[in-house]
Parts: sequence; C-alpha cells; structure tokens
Amino acid sequence: MATVVLALGGSLLRPEIEGRHSWIETLVGIIRDRVAADDRIGIVVGGGSPARDGIELSRPIINNEGRLDKIGIAATRLNATIIREALAESGVMVSGSIPHSINEASMLFDERPVVVMGGTVPGHTTDTVAIRLAIATGASRCIIATNVERVYDSDPRTNPNAKSYDRLTHKQLQDIVGPAAHDSAGPSGVVDPMGVADAAKENLTLNVLDGRDIEIIKAAIIGESFAGTVVES
Ligand code: UTP
Repeated sequence: MATVVLALGGSLLRPEIEGRHSWIETLVGIIRDRVAADDRIGIVVGGGSPARDGIELSRPIINNEGRLDKIGIAATRLNATIIREALAESGVMVSGSIPHSINEASMLFDERPVVVMGGTVPGHTTDTVAIRLAIATGASRCIIATNVERVYDSDPRTNPNAKSYDRLTHKQLQDIVGPAAHDSAGPSGVVDPMGVADAAKENLTLNVLDGRDIEIIKAAIIGESFAGTVVES
C-alpha cells in the first residue's frame, strides 16, 4: 500500500477553463483506480479565484495578514468541498468531512483511503499543508499540481529566457523560491517556500507538474515518469 499526497492548485478549478468537468471526472476516475489498487490518496486543494477575490475585497479594510489568510483558507475549504463531493457522488471511499488539521487528516486515513482537505492555519499555503500531510502519513511523495509545466528559475510569463528544470535538489528549489517565509496572504511562487523547507528537512520527494493536463497528474500518481520537475536531495 502506497500513500501519495496531491496538492491541487486552486487555479485548476476555474469553470471558465474549457473541459473542466471532464477534467474533474477524469480525476475522480484516477482516484477510484488508485483506491482499487490499495493506495491511500490525500488531496489538498488550493483557493484559486475565490481566495484571490476574497483577499482583494478585504485587504483595504482588514490590515492583518492572519485575518486575510483565514479568508483564503475558507476558499480552499470551498474548493476542497467541490472535490470531496464529486468523489463521494461517484462512490469513491472518501472521508466524510474536510479536516481542519494535519492530525485530523491523518486520523481520517484510518477510516477511508481518500482524504480531501484545504488549508489549516494562517501562515502558509496549501502546498505546505500537502507537504506536511505527506510527511505525517509517510507518503512516498507529494505531487504539486500547478499551472506551469515545470519549475523555472524565474517567471516564464515575464521572462522569455527563463530556464526550466527536470530535476532539482531541495536546496536548488529553495534558492529559486526563496527562504521559508509567508509575508502576505494570497499568491506565492511555484511552490510555497515554507513547504520546501519542510520537504528538505524530511527528504520528501516533490513532483511539480502542470495539473491542467490531467494525464500528467495521472502518470505522477501512478508513479510513472511524467513531464515536470522531480525534487529530491
Ligand atoms: P492557496 O494554497 O491557494 O495559495 O491558499 P496560493 O499560493 O494563493 O495559490 P496557488 O497555490 O498559487 O493556487 C490561498 C491563501 O489562503 C491562505 C493564504 O493566504 C494563501 O495565500 N492559506 C491557505 C493559509 O493561510 N493557510 C493555509 O493552510 C492555506
């Protein structure tokens, strides 16, 4: 029995992206197959546009990053609920509630092979939650499904000469994303630096990939080679 944790960037859940329904249905099918193969899957869902909208709306009136983080967490739990209900709808043995902590999530694995959650407490993003869940449950790896093809040394949307990597050490990734800190609520880099520091300490393998293509997520969950960046020490 293998345990794998998947961080799903909230940007992957936008209804205006064509084919989102079949993307979610395919994801549900992949998870169902993994359960049938006796794997345990943790899914940690990001906040995406509801997090961004809520934080933007509130920032001029709430001058406290911890409070803004809580608004982001609420959005992650909304998105986690969408994924949880979709799995339950198709009969996948998913935990009945969205846990509020890593401890609670780890305990839910005693009851069901699939646990879906969002954020936990202020001070980091769901990447870090996923990495900590992977460490707490002895997962073989943590898959970070985001909306770029690979880890780049700078933002490829603004720098056409940005270099991408198939493999990185934790230290190289930490150098790219910066030191472990959570300065403000809202969007962070390709992987949350807080989580990278935890992964480095515990020597947890990270798979960073473009989750818009569900086949890439599938390959990584199964443990096949995939298009993306493998981070190992
Ligand atoms: P996300 O995990 O979606 O982070 O959480 P993000 O970096 O903004 O989005 P992606 O990864 O690029 O899709 C949304 C916000 O919710 C708060 C943070 O403010 C985060 O930016 N949050 C989330 C927490 O404070 N704690 C958590 O455990 C999770």
